[in-house]
Amino acid sequence: MKHEIDIAQPEYLVEDWPGKYEVFSWLEYVVTVPNPIFIVTTRKANGAPNANLHSWGLLIGEKGNYSSLLALLDHSHTYANILREEEWCICFPSFEHYPQCFETIYCNAPDNDEITEAGFTIEPAKTVRAPRIAECPANLECRLEWHRPLYDGSTWHLFAGRVLHLAMDEAVMMPDPVERMQAMGLMYNVRGVVNPLNGELYGPNTLGLLSKVEKIFTDDGKPKGWRIQPQG
Ligand SMILES: Cc1cc2nc3c(=O)[nH]c(=O)nc-3n(C[C@H](O)[C@H](O)[C@H](O)COP(=O)(O)O)c2cc1C
Repeated sequence: MKHEIDIAQPEYLVEDWPGKYEVFSWLEYVVTVPNPIFIVTTRKANGAPNANLHSWGLLIGEKGNYSSLLALLDHSHTYANILREEEWCICFPSFEHYPQCFETIYCNAPDNDEITEAGFTIEPAKTVRAPRIAECPANLECRLEWHRPLYDGSTWHLFAGRVLHLAMDEAVMMPDPVERMQAMGLMYNVRGVVNPLNGELYGPNTLGLLSKVEKIFTDDGKPKGWRIQPQG
């Protein structure tokens, strides 16, 4: 049975940290559709490396404009850094490095080297001044094209940047997509689940891992279980 759920935030919802349902829509904790995790790296005003653990973003674009779309909180260092420098790198960490990923949040001072302090290694980029993270097997270097608030008065701000360069570790460049996903160890931001019917919270956020890939196409290019037969 499908429930028809009113999108208005219910009175019985209790925040487990103050401001949670101001910064995030309560619906995010109900639909629980996960986003891939990556780290946005930028340069601080003093030139030190900045790292922002990120999941509200995507990669999109056609010929000549493969692009990175980011949703950033407007009080983050990364927001200010991109407005000033107009550049960033997208670094995809593997699951084995999730402790260092979270360290980037705990060593989030105004002038420090967040990459080194979090336990990662700085790697110079080829086309931008923003640093890359050596341990991340895939890195994209990006230049700002446009930005705007998600809505008027929103604390969320959208940035679109053109990908200028890609660096990828040959250790994850195997042709088999299943093996490649296993080698890359990509993570997903999985939200703590809220019951929309009574507001009950079933535990904290966690991580997902893209470790199961199904090959759904047969040798003649049709999805397995294809029901529509060719005519004639
Ligand atoms: C799993 C996870 C995903 C996150 N995704 C984002 C995001 O997409 N955008 C954002 O602004 N902050 C996001 N954050 C919060 C930032 O990582 C955090 O506020 C960080 O300290 C900001 O760094 P900065 O001030 O150096 O930019 C996320 C945090 C976690 C734990």
